[in-house]
Order: sequence, then C-alpha cells, then structure tokens
Amino acid sequence: MVSLPNIAKPHVGADFLPINGTDYVELYVGNALQSAHYFQNAFGFQPLAMAGLETGLSDRESYVVVQDKIRLVFTSPLHGGTPIGAHIDRHGDGVKAIALWVDDAAKAYRDTIHRGARSFMEPLREEDSDGVTVRSGICTYGDTVHIFVERSQYNGAFLPGFVAWTPSHIPTVTGLRYIDHMVGNVGWNEMNKWVKFYQEVMGFTMLVSFDDKDISTDYSALMSKVMSNGNGRIKFPINEPAEGKKKSQVEEYLDFYDGPGVQHIAVATDHIVETVRDLRDRGVEFLQVPPSYYDDLVERVGHIDEEMASLRELGILVDRDDEGYLLQIFTKPIMPRPTLFFEIIQRKGARSFGKGNFKALFEAIEREQMLRGTL
Ligand code: FE2
Repeated sequence: MVSLPNIAKPHVGADFLPINGTDYVELYVGNALQSAHYFQNAFGFQPLAMAGLETGLSDRESYVVVQDKIRLVFTSPLHGGTPIGAHIDRHGDGVKAIALWVDDAAKAYRDTIHRGARSFMEPLREEDSDGVTVRSGICTYGDTVHIFVERSQYNGAFLPGFVAWTPSHIPTVTGLRYIDHMVGNVGWNEMNKWVKFYQEVMGFTMLVSFDDKDISTDYSALMSKVMSNGNGRIKFPINEPAEGKKKSQVEEYLDFYDGPGVQHIAVATDHIVETVRDLRDRGVEFLQVPPSYYDDLVERVGHIDEEMASLRELGILVDRDDEGYLLQIFTKPIMPRPTLFFEIIQRKGARSFGKGNFKALFEAIEREQMLRGTL
C-alpha cells in the first residue's frame, strides 16, 4: 500500500464537515454605519446588533443587520494602521468572511487544517451573560476567509461582545429570505485549484461546470464550476476569467479588487416581482437587458406563473432546466469599484444557475464596462 499524503481523499457519502447553513457574511467597509443604513433602507434589512467603542472595542466598529436567515456584518476600523484598514485600502469595500454555522467549530477547524487548510483563527471560545460561542477560521481564495460558528449554547442578539442595536428608524422588509449561493472570482487558471480545495479540504462536491463556450459573448468570457456541501445548503460557484476579444468581466473584477474575492451574493425571495419592485422603489439599481429579451421568452421557457408584463417592466430574467424554472435579476455593483453585486433569485423547482441568461446578462455587463471604459 502506498501511504497517502497529508491531504485526505474526500469520502463519497461521508459528510465530515456538516454545515447547518450560512451564519453571517462580514464585509470590511469604509463606513460601517452608513453601509448598514443603506442595507436597511434599500434592501429592508433589520438592525440586529452592534459592537464598538461603547462595548469596549478600541480598534473597530461593527453593525449587524438581519432579514429572515440572512445576517450581514459591516465592520470599519476606528483608526489608521489596522489590518481591516489595509484590507479596505487594497480591495475597497468587500466581503472578508463567509461564516458557516456548524455544531462543532473546533472539530471543523481540526479536520480542515488536517486536510490542508491554512489557518486564519484558532478555535476561540467567547462568552458573555447570554452564553458561549466557539468560532474558528480558515483562509480561502484571496484575502477571504471562512469562519466556523458554533452557537448552540448562545442566546444573545448575535455573538458575545455585541449588544442589541435598536435605532429609532426601522424600514420594512423586502422579502429576502436566505443566501442561495455566493460566487468567488479567482485568478487565471486558478479555478481548478479552488475546486480541489473545496473538494479535498471541505468535502464539497461539484454540482455543475460551465466552460468558456457556454459563457462567452463577443467580448466577455469566463469559466465556472459550482461547488456544494453535503446537504446542498452551501453553494459556491467559482469563476475564472477566460480569453475573449476584450477584457473578461472576471478580469475587470480582479483588477479592481486587486485579487480574488466574492463577486456576488445571491439572495432568495418567494415573491420576486414584489421584492424587486420594492427594491427598485427604494433606489436599488439593476442591470437591464434589452426589451427584445422578452420577445421569445415564452417559447424559450414555456408557461410560467408570473405575468410577463411585470417581468418585462422590472427586467427580471427567467431560465428553465429539467426540474423547473428560476427567476433572477442582478444589481449593479453596490460600491465605487466594479466589484461586489447582489443577485435576487426565486427558484420554482430549478436548481441550476440561469445558464440560459448568461448571454443576455453578459452583454448587459459589457455595456456597463463600456461606460466605465474598462472593456
Ligand atoms: Fe448567481
């Protein structure tokens, strides 16, 4: 028998890293209070918790907002020379941590480190009057990290050290329910390296793969593989740029983010027409496909429950696969650099990612790139 190297082979059928769901997503931003305010007012998130000078922190301030199962954390440094500030200087506002809810954060850390993960944070027990949490962290692509969160012994607003945040103004929700998937953009020829990371270190499997022939327009090209954990609650598509006539949208991201990072966060709703109308009325800006997209839509996707006029008015896209259909729409980047954006998605049976919309969508992105002069 040849002995195996340190990295264990993934066990088909044995989920060594059970994940209950996404726990939170933390963004490092220039102004955490105003980012939280934007996500409350534009996206309908509710204030949940905060930590900062008032709670004994000296280097940073964080605001946490929530909508159904989605928790977003916005963190800013309180003075110069911090790692958080360096992250913002290099990447602009962006996602630092994708936190995953597990039953045993120390075991998740041990197992993933044993399988070759790079450590970000050794298991850390935190405690306050509301109970105890354990968190640990490993590095993934770029400066992005995964935090494992164990919170079965905790009843507080968010995490030990945070206090409930109760501002006077509380906007209504917009129907966003949970994170459907989060996409990472990685460098040239790095997609398979990160696919292997999710397979071997985290026990994920590949759901689907797209090559540059599936995903290319006249100009923009990319390749993508979708990784999923055992119970399917965590889905991470990984994109890399591909050669096209002009600059790939993934390459534009890598240039502006100065390296790999999270490209978009897809959030699910049960009522996409109402949700998108609400978001639009609150000032969220979406990518628009040309009206001709809708001319042959019924022939392409067959019968759908939604009114075509509403989809056309709002610019909502539809795609069908063997299991059903999905509706989706993409925001413009929500920060000065053309990096992070959001997707709003409603699944009606379909478990795919809207392959039939790629061409129309990428042409819309290219029109935006053209305006930015980066194509
Ligand atoms: Fe997506």
